[in-house]
Amino acid sequence: MCGIVAAAAGKNIVPVLVEGLKKLEYRGYDSAGLAVISGASIERVRSVGRVAELEIGSANTQSVTGIAHTRWATHGVPSERNAHPHVSGSIAVVHNGIIENYESLRRDLTAQGYVFTSDTDTESIAHLLEATLKREPDLFKAVQITCRQLVGAYAIAVIDHSQPGKVIVAREGSPLLLGVSDTGNYAASDASALLQVTRNMVYLENGDIAELTATSVKITRLDGTPVERPVHVSQLSAAAVELGNYQHYMQKEIFEQPEALANTLEIVGGSKSIQPGIFGADAANLMADVDSILILACGTSSHSGFTARYWLEAIAGVTCNVEIASEYRYRTSVANPRQLIVAISQSGETADTLAALRHAKSLGQMKTLAICNVPESAIVRECALRFITRAGPEIGVASTKAFTTQLAALFLLTLVMAKVKERLTPGQESVYIDQLRHLPVAVNKVLELESDIEVWAKRFADKHHALFLGRGRHYPIAMEGALKLKEISYIHAEAYPAGELKHGPLALVDADMPVISIAPNDQLLDKLKSNLKEVQARGGELYVFADADSEMAESEGVHVLRLPEHYGELSPILHVIPLQLLSYHVALVKGTDVDKPRNLAKSVTVE
Ligand code: G6P
Repeated sequence: MCGIVAAAAGKNIVPVLVEGLKKLEYRGYDSAGLAVISGASIERVRSVGRVAELEIGSANTQSVTGIAHTRWATHGVPSERNAHPHVSGSIAVVHNGIIENYESLRRDLTAQGYVFTSDTDTESIAHLLEATLKREPDLFKAVQITCRQLVGAYAIAVIDHSQPGKVIVAREGSPLLLGVSDTGNYAASDASALLQVTRNMVYLENGDIAELTATSVKITRLDGTPVERPVHVSQLSAAAVELGNYQHYMQKEIFEQPEALANTLEIVGGSKSIQPGIFGADAANLMADVDSILILACGTSSHSGFTARYWLEAIAGVTCNVEIASEYRYRTSVANPRQLIVAISQSGETADTLAALRHAKSLGQMKTLAICNVPESAIVRECALRFITRAGPEIGVASTKAFTTQLAALFLLTLVMAKVKERLTPGQESVYIDQLRHLPVAVNKVLELESDIEVWAKRFADKHHALFLGRGRHYPIAMEGALKLKEISYIHAEAYPAGELKHGPLALVDADMPVISIAPNDQLLDKLKSNLKEVQARGGELYVFADADSEMAESEGVHVLRLPEHYGELSPILHVIPLQLLSYHVALVKGTDVDKPRNLAKSVTVE
């Protein structure tokens, strides 16, 4: 999704803007641009495609004040004229979000004589601000007045060549933070873009507006009331967002899973027992009379929720429903104040998940828990309880390590709920905790399957469809496998609970439709084998991920890879890993843009 970088410093900031945009590339974008103050004018460079092209285009540009943007098309096709920054008179604006009243603004501004050169909602902000500056020449105040007329979600950054040396930024709904330092002050959509210049971050609240110069930062509310926001020292390591020896971020992130899981589970420490307090100081109190759980999430995060449902009902005996956030927020549901709302999100900024959480709260559902990878994100800040997965920054659009760490967090939630409901003996608890602790080692062993999976991947290159089968708690893992394959290799893939095969999808099975099956050695294995026979009988090509001790033989049209050990309840965490590797290697064979698949964004901050 769109990314913003802005800078006011004592030296040339163009390399900082470009480097910042590169760090935001992972969010997904289709065009990029920057604008700087150059003498008595604005110098603007825009390009469709990669930031690398913008870098070439701006190689001779120099300035101490500027704004930059990666655009993910919403209003108007990806094109140079729709790329940000948008200019009106002496000002230039970049914007992330959606302005809902842009049509009426556009009508009014056109009537006033402004000529629009793009199809974007953002250009309305530029002209509205230019019109406002005629009445209120102070840029900071003019942006305050302008923002008060905007309806929707936005993060914006503005420069004005008639008031050089300053950048004004504002946020309402879309992420924006400041990076402050002795040599300059900066703003960006997330911290990774600014680690190159500072670790000192200031998170703006919705309705904040800030004026940055090389030596000062002033923050007010939109009505001009001054506010103080604390400086956080970012713990993100710059190395965490470097590619290192890997070919792609997705590959790096798949291989970081043992460490990400170890970091996430560190909270359990050396203890044989876990306490509700790992979800927040008030957790024991808040969870005491919880009678059910509702999980809200989108995309991959929803798949971790669907998996957890099996755990929560089987181990903790707590009714659990999972809803896609974009559906829940708009349907009429029955509110239950005793229900625990669990919002799962890697980024913590997904617009639909945030809106679903707010919707639940508006219905009086105040028991809320965020499971999230970004500590300072909106979803974390708006929940009563929190669990921060410690996966580190996830750059690849296709989520991998965020997913497995979410699963680990949800298993901890299961154990805590089971304790609260008195369904867990100390002995069982200690066995589960030992299994959790062993997870990083177990995942490492699964990663050793990579070369075998590479061989399989070659057979998928000419396929247009694939079917993923799983049963029980591995059905959501099949869903995640299908999502990964379609996201990055553009092969149409669907997941089915294997028992449903004969109720429709079997009609599709032939030699051109590979069927990938998750076949752990659990109580459903024999039933699954019967389902697989149905596929085999129709000439389907089967790719089976079994456990070391599963009785699954290779035969004509049946390929079997074995995971090193059977992992009981936690088996979904191991079984998703070969599916991540499979889609990664299929994408490599197909030559797609693995980390930035077409049309997709990492962090979907608009509806
Ligand atoms: C986008 C990403 C997915 C992600 C989903 C939810 O669609 O491309 O990888 O699963 O958003 O994101 P969240 O940050 O809320 O987990």
